[in-house]
Amino acid sequence: MNGLKLLATGRCLPKTAVSNEEMSRWVDTSDEWIASRTGIRQRYFCGEGETALTLAAGAARQALARSGIDPAGLGCVLCATVSPDYATPSLACLVQAELGLPEDIPVLDVNAACSGFLYAVAAARGFLAQSGRHYALVIGVEVLSRLMDMTDRSTCVLFGDGAGAAVFEAVPNAPFASLQGARGGKAILANGPGPLAPRLTMDGRAVFRFAVEAIPRCIDGILTQTHLTLNDIDWVVCHQANERILDHCIKKLHAPAEKFYKNMARYGNTSAASIPIALDEMNEQGLLKPGQTLLCVGFGGGLTWAAALFTL
Ligand code: ACO
Repeated sequence: MNGLKLLATGRCLPKTAVSNEEMSRWVDTSDEWIASRTGIRQRYFCGEGETALTLAAGAARQALARSGIDPAGLGCVLCATVSPDYATPSLACLVQAELGLPEDIPVLDVNAACSGFLYAVAAARGFLAQSGRHYALVIGVEVLSRLMDMTDRSTCVLFGDGAGAAVFEAVPNAPFASLQGARGGKAILANGPGPLAPRLTMDGRAVFRFAVEAIPRCIDGILTQTHLTLNDIDWVVCHQANERILDHCIKKLHAPAEKFYKNMARYGNTSAASIPIALDEMNEQGLLKPGQTLLCVGFGGGLTWAAALFTL
């Protein structure tokens, strides 16, 4: 099967950034508490007229324009999200309609929480292999502010809204590896009772323990599959949940900290959107260069985990 190359990225954030200081006016918290435990300084929340569709379409438009491809050549459109505007139609279908994307291709949402973007990348590769088409549009988008209880300080300070998008090309012999896994259950992280009820519940310490075990296991899994070491990887882009989780893993792996990109200070935890938002920021800063190898790792609700290695 062909590997995937990252051709272009885009991102779209709500207009309103909310600082830790502002959060401390809504709930009993402080910039010091949030920043020291998570590394988060601000996040974006959707306001009037901003939806999962406006964010996803904005990010996708940017990625498609930068890729230079004719959208008619897309082989699939996947949207990773746990906070779509509708249960049906899928958000991916809404993006397809909004952007006038082709009809004779798979268009669907993937719900694997913070691992969703990487699950979607692996699925996109399979769809391209099936059809022989060359390009995939993969979007990660969340409006988590809709799912949160804004009076619960233990969760509402952690998450944010946003979207990132990527265009991938199927290229023969391009290096590619991926893995996915899940340990189903709702004790640690859940949103209910109804799918759109604003009650995200989380056992923060259990998530922490899960994450610092899952990330090194994912990295080791990809390196074993590819017979590479971290020296061969230019960037490790992990789901941006919490700076302390990443620092813990870097230490555990004896890994070079400078290869781990971090941007949770600016966005909070945007679940499925966090990895493509990070990729787009890195692109914008000129950190991503042709020929580089990236290893991305996601972990989160489900519980789920996933990793992917691809080149630029
Ligand atoms: N501001 C001030 N105090 C708070 C806040 C807040 N926002 N939230 C909780 N507290 C209080 C608690 O009530 C508790 O007070 P108590 O001791 O009087 O009961 C105290 O702070 C300590 O609470 P802990 O939960 O023990 O704090 P901890 O140091 O474990 O940090 C945190 C909590 C940041 C959630 C941590 O457990 C963590 O990072 N977990 C990982 C969670 C995560 O990243 N989730 C992301 C979502 S899932 C995903 O993406 C994988």
